[in-house]
Amino acid sequence: MLTTAFGQKLFGRVKHGTAVAGRVSPFGTLLNHRHPRLDGLTVRICYRASSGPTVRLKLVVEESLKDMRAIVVDPDVPGALRLGRVAEPQAAPNQVVLEVRHISLNRGEVAFAGRRPAGTVHGYDAAGVVVRAAADGTGPAVGTNVAAFGVGAWAQQMAVETTAVAEVPVQVDLADAAAVPMAGLTALRTLRTRSILGRRVLVTGAAGGVGRYAVQLAALGGAHVIASIGSTPRAAGLTELGAHEVVVGLKGVDRPVDLIIDNVGGPQLAAAWELLAPGGGVQNVGWASDEPAVFEPYSLFFIGPAKTMSTFGDIREVGPDLATLLDFLAAGKLSPEVAWRGSWERVTEAAQALLDRRIAGKAVLDVEPATR
Ligand SMILES: NC(=O)c1ccc[n+]([C@@H]2O[C@H](COP(=O)([O-])OP(=O)(O)OC[C@H]3O[C@@H](n4cnc5c(N)ncnc54)[C@H](OP(=O)(O)O)[C@@H]3O)[C@@H](O)[C@H]2O)c1
Repeated sequence: MLTTAFGQKLFGRVKHGTAVAGRVSPFGTLLNHRHPRLDGLTVRICYRASSGPTVRLKLVVEESLKDMRAIVVDPDVPGALRLGRVAEPQAAPNQVVLEVRHISLNRGEVAFAGRRPAGTVHGYDAAGVVVRAAADGTGPAVGTNVAAFGVGAWAQQMAVETTAVAEVPVQVDLADAAAVPMAGLTALRTLRTRSILGRRVLVTGAAGGVGRYAVQLAALGGAHVIASIGSTPRAAGLTELGAHEVVVGLKGVDRPVDLIIDNVGGPQLAAAWELLAPGGGVQNVGWASDEPAVFEPYSLFFIGPAKTMSTFGDIREVGPDLATLLDFLAAGKLSPEVAWRGSWERVTEAAQALLDRRIAGKAVLDVEPATR
């Protein structure tokens, strides 16, 4: 039974046996025209007419309000993330809905989760299967395996713009595809800011998620790649990924570099600036060190072709670039570098390991499918 008013949206659970086009009593109670598919749906009253003691209503099914599991922000738990229940996402006309199978974590998301409003469905990286195509006719069809980048990724379902998804080639494991979006796109787009063929590219935080993709893509682009790590054990695998030199901090970098992909910030950024060749540039991707960088007075002054330092945060229309990265995976040119894999029930453990610098690459979590 529902209490209704003209123009009111009926949120919450509608039980089996309520009506799509039905009648209400003078007290607003829905009568007859049983419609079993309405269980858990939201309906909107779009027409109402009175005749005698009853009122005729036409109700339009608006959106499913079935709930689902998701990783949500909770400032009161360790790591500020936990599994919870939320309403399924409501797709805009330019969005597909995915049944999410795998997600991946990124340092910034886990480090700053507690800054977001409690209850927010967190995360950006997902891979899954399209269960609802976009109403505007764009994007992949139902049943397509895709990787996606967008808000609200860490959930059993995700609504995401068709411009921010890419089909996963059959050769690519869906879990590997989930590792790619944020870290891979960041590496690709920052490296594309200048020509790197035959140039010297320094990647700081090279053992991490962005770093491992940047090392591989810079090598693929024909650069001489210098991978900077925090400690010797973190060198593992970087030469195999294409690094020509692996250095701890900046020790041993004795010639100028043309491009710096900087994931670390802090004092190392100020020191790295001194290594820039005339006309060289720093792409300031992140600040994993959490420490301030101090530039001595006039240390940014330079006579000759300008040295630059740029922010990075360009997440527009990522679909085509995501497709490029997945094609590299399919061709064996890019390794997904999944260093931690487990159930999303273990999100707190995975997030802490990432923050503690115990994951050399990406953490991918498997999403428990919804039971329907
Ligand atoms: N701008 C954007 O759009 C964007 C996108 C993605 C990421 N980010 C940011 O970029 C950074 C890297 O992200 P990620 O996902 O690659 O993180 P990640 O996987 O955790 O890797 C971070 C790396 O930073 C290094 N590191 C941490 N603290 C350090 C310190 N005090 N000194 C030297 N190195 C240190 C670690 O080195 P070792 O492994 O050698 O210990 C680790 O390899 C983060 O700050 C993240 O928030 C920004």
